[in-house]
Amino acid sequence: MFKGLAETPPMGWNSWNTFGTDINEKLVMDTADLFISLGLKDVGYDYIVLDDGWMTKERDENGNMVADPKKFPNGMKALVDYVHGKGLKFGLYSCAGATTCAGFPGSRGHEYQDARTFAAWGVDFLKYDWCDTENLNAQGAYETMRDALAKAEYPILFSICEWGDNEPWNWAKDIGQMWRVSGDITNCWDCEVNHGSWSSWGVWKIINMRKDIRFAAGPNHWNDLDMMEVGNGMSTAEDRSHFAMWNILSSPLILGNDLRTANANTINLLTNTEVLSINKDSLGIQGFRVSNKDDLEIWVKPLSNGSWAMAFINMSDIDFDLNYDWQASIIEDSIYNRKIDSKNKTYTVRDLFAHKDLVNSSQNLKTKIKKHDVLLILVEEKN
Ligand code: GLA
Repeated sequence: MFKGLAETPPMGWNSWNTFGTDINEKLVMDTADLFISLGLKDVGYDYIVLDDGWMTKERDENGNMVADPKKFPNGMKALVDYVHGKGLKFGLYSCAGATTCAGFPGSRGHEYQDARTFAAWGVDFLKYDWCDTENLNAQGAYETMRDALAKAEYPILFSICEWGDNEPWNWAKDIGQMWRVSGDITNCWDCEVNHGSWSSWGVWKIINMRKDIRFAAGPNHWNDLDMMEVGNGMSTAEDRSHFAMWNILSSPLILGNDLRTANANTINLLTNTEVLSINKDSLGIQGFRVSNKDDLEIWVKPLSNGSWAMAFINMSDIDFDLNYDWQASIIEDSIYNRKIDSKNKTYTVRDLFAHKDLVNSSQNLKTKIKKHDVLLILVEEKN
Protein backbone atom coordinates (compact mmCIF):
# COMPACT_ATOMS: atom_id res chain seq x y z
CA MET A 1 0.00 0.00 0.00
CA PHE A 2 1.23 3.50 -0.78
CA LYS A 3 2.41 5.15 2.42
CA GLY A 4 1.40 8.49 3.83
CA LEU A 5 -1.47 9.33 1.47
CA ALA A 6 -3.95 9.93 4.27
CA GLU A 7 -2.17 11.06 7.42
CA THR A 8 -5.40 12.89 8.24
CA PRO A 9 -8.85 11.87 6.94
CA PRO A 10 -9.18 12.51 3.18
CA MET A 11 -11.29 15.52 2.14
CA GLY A 12 -13.05 16.10 -1.15
CA TRP A 13 -16.24 15.78 -3.16
CA ASN A 14 -18.01 12.80 -4.74
CA SER A 15 -20.70 12.90 -7.42
CA TRP A 16 -22.94 10.08 -6.20
CA ASN A 17 -25.22 11.56 -3.50
CA THR A 18 -26.54 14.31 -5.73
CA PHE A 19 -25.96 13.23 -9.31
CA GLY A 20 -26.01 9.41 -9.40
CA THR A 21 -24.81 8.36 -12.86
CA ASP A 22 -25.86 11.70 -14.40
CA ILE A 23 -22.29 13.02 -14.52
CA ASN A 24 -20.16 14.73 -17.17
CA GLU A 25 -16.95 16.68 -17.68
CA LYS A 26 -18.62 20.09 -17.31
CA LEU A 27 -19.82 19.16 -13.83
CA VAL A 28 -16.30 18.13 -12.82
CA MET A 29 -14.70 21.26 -14.26
CA ASP A 30 -17.29 23.52 -12.60
CA THR A 31 -16.77 21.70 -9.31
CA ALA A 32 -12.99 22.09 -9.58
CA ASP A 33 -13.41 25.82 -10.28
CA LEU A 34 -15.71 26.12 -7.26
CA PHE A 35 -13.20 24.32 -5.03
CA ILE A 36 -10.99 27.33 -5.68
CA SER A 37 -13.49 30.20 -5.72
CA LEU A 38 -15.45 29.04 -2.67
CA GLY A 39 -12.28 28.55 -0.63
CA LEU A 40 -12.74 24.78 -0.27
CA LYS A 41 -9.25 24.03 -1.50
CA ASP A 42 -7.78 26.57 0.93
CA VAL A 43 -9.18 24.67 3.91
CA GLY A 44 -8.07 21.23 2.70
CA TYR A 45 -10.69 19.74 0.36
CA ASP A 46 -8.67 18.40 -2.55
CA TYR A 47 -10.12 15.21 -4.09
CA ILE A 48 -12.78 15.42 -6.80
CA VAL A 49 -14.18 11.93 -7.22
CA LEU A 50 -16.41 10.62 -10.01
CA ASP A 51 -18.53 7.77 -8.76
CA ASP A 52 -20.37 5.09 -10.75
CA GLY A 53 -21.40 5.68 -14.36
CA TRP A 54 -18.33 7.37 -15.86
CA MET A 55 -17.53 4.41 -18.13
CA THR A 56 -19.17 2.92 -21.22
CA LYS A 57 -21.37 -0.16 -20.80
CA GLU A 58 -18.77 -2.32 -22.59
CA ARG A 59 -15.00 -2.45 -22.44
CA ASP A 60 -13.16 -1.80 -25.73
CA GLU A 61 -11.79 -4.57 -27.99
CA ASN A 62 -8.64 -4.77 -25.84
CA GLY A 63 -10.62 -5.10 -22.66
CA ASN A 64 -9.88 -1.58 -21.48
CA MET A 65 -12.34 0.50 -19.53
CA VAL A 66 -13.41 3.52 -21.55
CA ALA A 67 -14.80 6.86 -20.36
CA ASP A 68 -18.26 7.45 -21.85
CA PRO A 69 -17.57 9.79 -24.80
CA LYS A 70 -20.98 11.43 -24.49
CA LYS A 71 -20.32 12.42 -20.89
CA PHE A 72 -16.59 13.03 -21.35
CA PRO A 73 -16.03 14.13 -24.97
CA ASN A 74 -12.43 15.12 -24.26
CA GLY A 75 -11.59 11.86 -22.56
CA MET A 76 -10.62 11.15 -18.97
CA LYS A 77 -6.95 12.12 -19.22
CA ALA A 78 -7.81 15.69 -20.30
CA LEU A 79 -10.25 15.99 -17.41
CA VAL A 80 -7.72 14.71 -14.89
CA ASP A 81 -5.21 17.21 -16.27
CA TYR A 82 -7.74 20.01 -15.82
CA VAL A 83 -8.30 19.07 -12.17
CA HIS A 84 -4.55 18.71 -11.57
CA GLY A 85 -4.05 22.11 -13.18
CA LYS A 86 -6.09 23.60 -10.34
CA GLY A 87 -3.78 22.00 -7.79
CA LEU A 88 -6.45 19.41 -6.94
CA LYS A 89 -6.56 15.61 -7.07
CA PHE A 90 -8.84 13.35 -9.06
CA GLY A 91 -10.67 10.18 -8.09
CA LEU A 92 -12.57 7.46 -9.93
CA TYR A 93 -14.85 4.60 -9.00
CA SER A 94 -14.73 0.94 -9.88
CA CYS A 95 -16.01 -2.27 -8.36
CA ALA A 96 -14.57 -5.60 -7.21
CA GLY A 97 -17.35 -7.43 -9.04
CA ALA A 98 -17.74 -7.96 -12.78
CA THR A 99 -20.31 -5.17 -12.88
CA THR A 100 -20.75 -2.05 -10.79
CA CYS A 101 -23.83 -1.34 -8.70
CA ALA A 102 -25.28 0.67 -11.60
CA GLY A 103 -24.52 -2.08 -14.13
CA PHE A 104 -21.32 -0.77 -15.74
CA PRO A 105 -18.16 -2.88 -16.11
CA GLY A 106 -16.41 -3.66 -12.83
CA SER A 107 -12.78 -4.67 -12.42
CA ARG A 108 -13.14 -8.39 -11.62
CA GLY A 109 -10.60 -10.21 -13.77
CA HIS A 110 -9.20 -6.91 -15.06
CA GLU A 111 -7.63 -5.57 -11.87
CA TYR A 112 -4.07 -5.11 -13.14
CA GLN A 113 -5.25 -3.75 -16.50
CA ASP A 114 -7.59 -1.23 -14.87
CA ALA A 115 -4.96 -0.14 -12.35
CA ARG A 116 -2.62 0.58 -15.28
CA THR A 117 -5.36 2.58 -17.01
CA PHE A 118 -6.08 4.64 -13.89
CA ALA A 119 -2.36 5.25 -13.31
CA ALA A 120 -1.85 6.31 -16.94
CA TRP A 121 -4.65 8.86 -16.58
CA GLY A 122 -3.12 10.20 -13.34
CA VAL A 123 -5.98 9.12 -11.10
CA ASP A 124 -5.12 9.80 -7.43
CA PHE A 125 -7.99 8.03 -5.64
CA LEU A 126 -9.91 4.84 -6.33
CA LYS A 127 -13.23 4.06 -4.68
CA TYR A 128 -13.77 0.32 -5.04
CA ASP A 129 -17.29 -1.01 -4.56
CA TRP A 130 -18.71 -4.43 -3.74
CA CYS A 131 -21.64 -5.21 -6.08
CA ASP A 132 -21.81 -8.43 -8.12
CA THR A 133 -19.19 -10.17 -6.00
CA GLU A 134 -20.77 -13.55 -5.40
CA ASN A 135 -18.19 -16.11 -4.20
CA LEU A 136 -15.48 -13.49 -3.85
CA ASN A 137 -13.63 -13.21 -0.56
CA ALA A 138 -13.67 -9.54 0.44
CA GLN A 139 -10.22 -9.32 1.96
CA GLY A 140 -8.70 -11.20 -0.97
CA ALA A 141 -10.50 -9.08 -3.57
CA TYR A 142 -9.35 -5.83 -1.99
CA GLU A 143 -5.80 -7.18 -1.62
CA THR A 144 -5.77 -8.02 -5.31
CA MET A 145 -6.65 -4.47 -6.27
CA ARG A 146 -4.22 -3.04 -3.73
CA ASP A 147 -1.45 -5.13 -5.29
CA ALA A 148 -2.53 -4.11 -8.80
CA LEU A 149 -2.37 -0.44 -7.83
CA ALA A 150 1.08 -0.94 -6.33
CA LYS A 151 2.26 -2.62 -9.50
CA ALA A 152 1.03 0.32 -11.59
CA GLU A 153 3.47 2.46 -9.59
CA TYR A 154 1.39 5.62 -9.36
CA PRO A 155 0.29 6.61 -5.85
CA ILE A 156 -3.45 6.03 -5.67
CA LEU A 157 -5.39 6.31 -2.42
CA PHE A 158 -7.51 3.18 -2.07
CA SER A 159 -11.01 3.70 -0.72
CA ILE A 160 -12.69 0.42 0.23
CA CYS A 161 -16.47 0.33 -0.17
CA GLU A 162 -17.89 -3.01 0.95
CA TRP A 163 -20.41 -1.36 3.30
CA GLY A 164 -19.00 -2.92 6.45
CA ASP A 165 -20.45 -6.33 5.52
CA ASN A 166 -17.16 -8.15 6.12
CA GLU A 167 -15.93 -5.93 8.98
CA PRO A 168 -13.00 -4.31 7.14
CA TRP A 169 -12.00 -2.51 10.34
CA ASN A 170 -10.60 -5.91 11.37
CA TRP A 171 -8.47 -6.52 8.26
CA ALA A 172 -8.17 -3.52 5.93
CA LYS A 173 -5.59 -1.39 7.73
CA ASP A 174 -2.81 -2.42 5.36
CA ILE A 175 -5.03 -2.61 2.30
CA GLY A 176 -6.77 0.75 1.98
CA GLN A 177 -6.60 4.19 3.55
CA MET A 178 -10.33 4.24 4.31
CA TRP A 179 -13.23 1.83 4.37
CA ARG A 180 -16.95 2.40 4.37
CA VAL A 181 -18.58 1.12 7.54
CA SER A 182 -22.20 0.93 6.41
CA GLY A 183 -24.63 0.82 3.53
CA ASP A 184 -25.37 4.07 1.75
CA ILE A 185 -26.15 7.23 3.61
CA THR A 186 -29.41 9.03 2.88
CA ASN A 187 -30.41 12.57 3.50
CA CYS A 188 -32.13 12.37 6.87
CA TRP A 189 -31.45 12.66 10.57
CA ASP A 190 -32.26 9.16 11.83
CA CYS A 191 -34.28 7.24 9.26
CA GLU A 192 -33.91 3.94 7.46
CA VAL A 193 -35.07 3.83 3.84
CA ASN A 194 -35.86 0.27 2.83
CA HIS A 195 -35.12 -0.47 -0.85
CA GLY A 196 -36.14 -4.14 -0.67
CA SER A 197 -32.88 -6.08 -0.64
CA TRP A 198 -30.95 -3.22 1.02
CA SER A 199 -31.47 -0.09 3.10
CA SER A 200 -29.94 3.34 3.13
CA TRP A 201 -29.35 5.04 6.42
CA GLY A 202 -29.75 8.43 8.06
CA VAL A 203 -26.91 10.16 9.86
CA TRP A 204 -27.61 8.79 13.35
CA LYS A 205 -28.33 5.28 12.11
CA ILE A 206 -24.77 5.13 10.75
CA ILE A 207 -23.24 6.68 13.87
CA ASN A 208 -25.02 4.28 16.21
CA MET A 209 -24.46 1.23 14.01
CA ARG A 210 -20.69 1.67 14.22
CA LYS A 211 -19.98 3.40 17.48
CA ASP A 212 -17.71 0.59 18.72
CA ILE A 213 -14.99 0.47 16.05
CA ARG A 214 -12.94 3.52 16.92
CA PHE A 215 -9.99 1.30 17.86
CA ALA A 216 -9.45 0.68 14.13
CA ALA A 217 -9.06 4.29 12.99
CA GLY A 218 -5.84 6.24 12.77
CA PRO A 219 -3.48 7.95 10.35
CA ASN A 220 -3.74 6.30 6.91
CA HIS A 221 -6.61 4.00 7.86
CA TRP A 222 -9.95 5.62 8.60
CA ASN A 223 -13.50 4.50 9.29
CA ASP A 224 -15.47 6.13 6.45
CA LEU A 225 -18.98 7.15 7.53
CA ASP A 226 -19.87 7.84 3.86
CA MET A 227 -20.12 10.95 1.72
CA MET A 228 -21.82 13.77 3.57
CA GLU A 229 -25.37 14.99 3.02
CA VAL A 230 -24.65 18.52 4.22
CA GLY A 231 -26.50 20.99 2.00
CA ASN A 232 -28.88 18.38 0.63
CA GLY A 233 -32.02 19.34 2.52
CA MET A 234 -31.74 18.60 6.22
CA SER A 235 -32.30 21.55 8.57
CA THR A 236 -29.42 23.94 9.29
CA ALA A 237 -29.16 22.49 12.80
CA GLU A 238 -29.08 18.93 11.47
CA ASP A 239 -26.43 19.75 8.89
CA ARG A 240 -24.34 21.35 11.63
CA SER A 241 -24.63 18.28 13.88
CA HIS A 242 -23.92 15.92 10.97
CA PHE A 243 -20.77 17.87 10.10
CA ALA A 244 -19.69 18.12 13.75
CA MET A 245 -20.03 14.35 14.14
CA TRP A 246 -18.08 13.47 11.00
CA ASN A 247 -15.28 15.65 12.41
CA ILE A 248 -15.49 14.15 15.91
CA LEU A 249 -15.46 10.65 14.41
CA SER A 250 -12.39 11.32 12.23
CA SER A 251 -14.34 10.34 9.14
CA PRO A 252 -13.15 11.28 5.68
CA LEU A 253 -14.96 14.51 4.79
CA ILE A 254 -16.32 13.95 1.29
CA LEU A 255 -18.91 16.49 0.19
CA GLY A 256 -21.99 15.10 -1.52
CA ASN A 257 -23.84 18.25 -2.53
CA ASP A 258 -24.07 20.37 -5.67
CA LEU A 259 -21.51 23.13 -5.20
CA ARG A 260 -22.97 25.15 -8.08
CA THR A 261 -26.14 25.82 -6.09
CA ALA A 262 -24.79 25.61 -2.52
CA ASN A 263 -25.81 28.56 -0.36
CA ALA A 264 -23.49 30.64 1.81
CA ASN A 265 -24.57 28.95 5.05
CA THR A 266 -23.59 25.56 3.69
CA ILE A 267 -20.22 26.77 2.45
CA ASN A 268 -19.53 28.59 5.72
CA LEU A 269 -20.28 25.43 7.62
CA LEU A 270 -18.08 23.24 5.43
CA THR A 271 -15.16 25.67 5.52
CA ASN A 272 -15.17 26.34 9.28
CA THR A 273 -11.47 25.89 9.99
CA GLU A 274 -11.91 25.71 13.75
CA VAL A 275 -14.12 22.67 13.25
CA LEU A 276 -11.95 21.14 10.56
CA SER A 277 -8.91 21.31 12.81
CA ILE A 278 -10.59 18.64 14.96
CA ASN A 279 -10.66 16.27 12.02
CA LYS A 280 -7.14 17.19 10.97
CA ASP A 281 -5.63 16.71 14.42
CA SER A 282 -2.35 14.87 14.01
CA LEU A 283 -3.09 12.19 16.62
CA GLY A 284 -5.92 10.89 14.43
CA ILE A 285 -7.88 9.48 17.36
CA GLN A 286 -11.54 8.83 16.57
CA GLY A 287 -14.01 10.22 19.09
CA PHE A 288 -16.46 8.32 21.28
CA ARG A 289 -19.74 8.73 23.08
CA VAL A 290 -19.63 9.69 26.73
CA SER A 291 -23.36 9.55 27.39
CA ASN A 292 -26.83 9.72 25.92
CA LYS A 293 -29.28 10.65 28.64
CA ASP A 294 -32.39 12.80 28.49
CA ASP A 295 -32.20 13.32 24.73
CA LEU A 296 -28.68 14.70 25.00
CA GLU A 297 -25.79 12.95 23.26
CA ILE A 298 -22.29 13.87 24.49
CA TRP A 299 -19.32 12.91 22.31
CA VAL A 300 -15.63 13.71 22.72
CA LYS A 301 -12.47 13.38 20.66
CA PRO A 302 -9.00 13.59 22.20
CA LEU A 303 -6.68 16.01 20.42
CA SER A 304 -2.99 16.69 20.64
CA ASN A 305 -1.51 18.70 23.52
CA GLY A 306 -4.10 17.37 25.95
CA SER A 307 -6.96 19.23 24.24
CA TRP A 308 -10.36 17.76 23.43
CA ALA A 309 -13.25 18.42 21.12
CA MET A 310 -16.64 17.91 22.69
CA ALA A 311 -20.09 17.85 21.13
CA PHE A 312 -23.45 18.16 22.92
CA ILE A 313 -26.32 17.24 20.59
CA ASN A 314 -29.97 17.81 21.31
CA MET A 315 -31.76 14.74 19.93
CA SER A 316 -35.21 15.99 20.96
CA ASP A 317 -37.74 18.11 19.09
CA ILE A 318 -37.74 20.90 21.67
CA ASP A 319 -35.07 23.24 23.03
CA PHE A 320 -32.64 21.69 25.50
CA ASP A 321 -31.31 23.72 28.43
CA LEU A 322 -27.78 22.52 28.92
CA ASN A 323 -26.30 22.87 32.40
CA TYR A 324 -23.12 20.83 32.34
CA ASP A 325 -21.20 20.48 35.57
CA TRP A 326 -17.51 19.90 34.88
CA GLN A 327 -16.91 18.96 38.51
CA ALA A 328 -19.40 16.11 38.42
CA SER A 329 -17.31 13.68 36.41
CA ILE A 330 -13.98 12.95 34.79
CA ILE A 331 -14.15 11.83 31.16
CA GLU A 332 -11.77 8.98 30.36
CA ASP A 333 -10.67 7.41 27.12
CA SER A 334 -9.74 3.90 28.17
CA ILE A 335 -8.39 2.85 24.73
CA TYR A 336 -5.99 5.75 24.28
CA ASN A 337 -5.45 6.39 27.97
CA ARG A 338 -6.40 10.05 28.22
CA LYS A 339 -8.74 12.02 30.42
CA ILE A 340 -10.43 15.35 30.91
CA ASP A 341 -9.55 15.77 34.55
CA SER A 342 -11.98 18.60 35.16
CA LYS A 343 -12.27 17.82 38.85
CA ASN A 344 -8.63 18.75 39.39
CA LYS A 345 -7.76 21.00 36.46
CA THR A 346 -9.29 24.03 34.83
CA TYR A 347 -9.92 24.00 31.10
CA THR A 348 -10.74 26.82 28.73
CA VAL A 349 -13.85 26.32 26.61
CA ARG A 350 -14.41 27.69 23.10
CA ASP A 351 -17.54 27.46 20.97
CA LEU A 352 -16.32 26.44 17.50
CA PHE A 353 -19.47 27.43 15.61
CA ALA A 354 -19.99 30.79 17.35
CA HIS A 355 -16.21 31.40 17.28
CA LYS A 356 -16.20 32.62 20.85
CA ASP A 357 -14.75 31.74 24.21
CA LEU A 358 -17.21 30.55 26.87
CA VAL A 359 -16.78 30.42 30.64
CA ASN A 360 -14.04 28.04 31.69
CA SER A 361 -14.57 24.70 33.39
CA SER A 362 -14.60 26.18 36.89
CA GLN A 363 -18.23 27.10 36.19
CA ASN A 364 -21.10 25.10 34.74
CA LEU A 365 -21.51 25.23 30.96
CA LYS A 366 -24.96 26.69 30.38
CA THR A 367 -26.66 27.32 27.08
CA LYS A 368 -29.78 26.51 25.07
CA ILE A 369 -29.39 23.97 22.28
CA LYS A 370 -32.13 23.94 19.68
CA LYS A 371 -33.80 20.84 18.22
CA HIS A 372 -31.15 18.58 16.59
CA ASP A 373 -28.53 21.27 17.00
CA VAL A 374 -25.08 20.91 18.50
CA LEU A 375 -22.80 22.80 20.82
CA LEU A 376 -19.30 21.98 19.63
CA ILE A 377 -16.50 23.11 21.91
CA LEU A 378 -12.74 22.97 22.14
CA VAL A 379 -11.55 22.14 25.64
CA GLU A 380 -7.97 23.09 26.46
CA GLU A 381 -5.93 22.86 29.59
CA LYS A 382 -5.36 26.28 31.08
CA ASN A 383 -1.74 27.17 31.75
C1 GLA B 1 -22.94 1.64 -3.86
C2 GLA B 1 -22.05 2.54 -3.01
C3 GLA B 1 -22.44 3.99 -3.27
C4 GLA B 1 -22.28 4.32 -4.73
C5 GLA B 1 -23.13 3.35 -5.57
C6 GLA B 1 -22.84 3.49 -7.05
O1 GLA B 1 -24.25 1.68 -3.44
O2 GLA B 1 -22.16 2.22 -1.66
O3 GLA B 1 -21.65 4.86 -2.48
O4 GLA B 1 -20.93 4.22 -5.09
O5 GLA B 1 -22.86 2.00 -5.23
O6 GLA B 1 -23.60 2.62 -7.83
